[in-house]
Amino acid sequence: MSPTNLAQYASVSVLFLLLNSCKGEPKEVCDIPENITYKEHIASIIEVQCFKCHAADVYKEKASRVKIFDYPSLKKMGESGQLIGSITHAQGYIAMPYRKETKIDSCVIETIKTWVNLGMQE
Ligand code: HEC
Repeated sequence: MSPTNLAQYASVSVLFLLLNSCKGEPKEVCDIPENITYKEHIASIIEVQCFKCHAADVYKEKASRVKIFDYPSLKKMGESGQLIGSITHAQGYIAMPYRKETKIDSCVIETIKTWVNLGMQE
């Protein structure tokens, strides 16, 4: 292949990939970490996504005392189904983040779900 042909081939391939990625339902492939633990993966997610209202110094006032800022309290919410119910906006649960139409990132939800399903390692 001549360099020009190669360049054309490359640009056509890129175009093809771009078109393909827009086609149909976007199937997101999540990069779920292995051996998910609270300390390594989950704590930081909760901190970023939920501490605005659920941090230790504000939860009484901003989250109606719903406690999820440490491992034991989050684990309880995981066991009761409230954690997954709230972040997936399931019926019967109060949708989180509170009063936001949009859910948190679907791969972040998958990560939390996987952690819960695997027994919530600390
Ligand atoms: C803007 C403030 C705010 C943010 C951000 C927020 N929450 Fe909440 N959360 C609340 C409030 C307020 C309540 C209590 C609602 C009530 O009892 O009416 C609550 C309740 C909950 C409950 C109990 C739900 C139920 O069905 O009983 C869970 C679980 C929860 N939050 C988890 C989270 C998680 C996980 C995040 C981050 C992804 C989050 N929250 C982000 C304010 C917030």
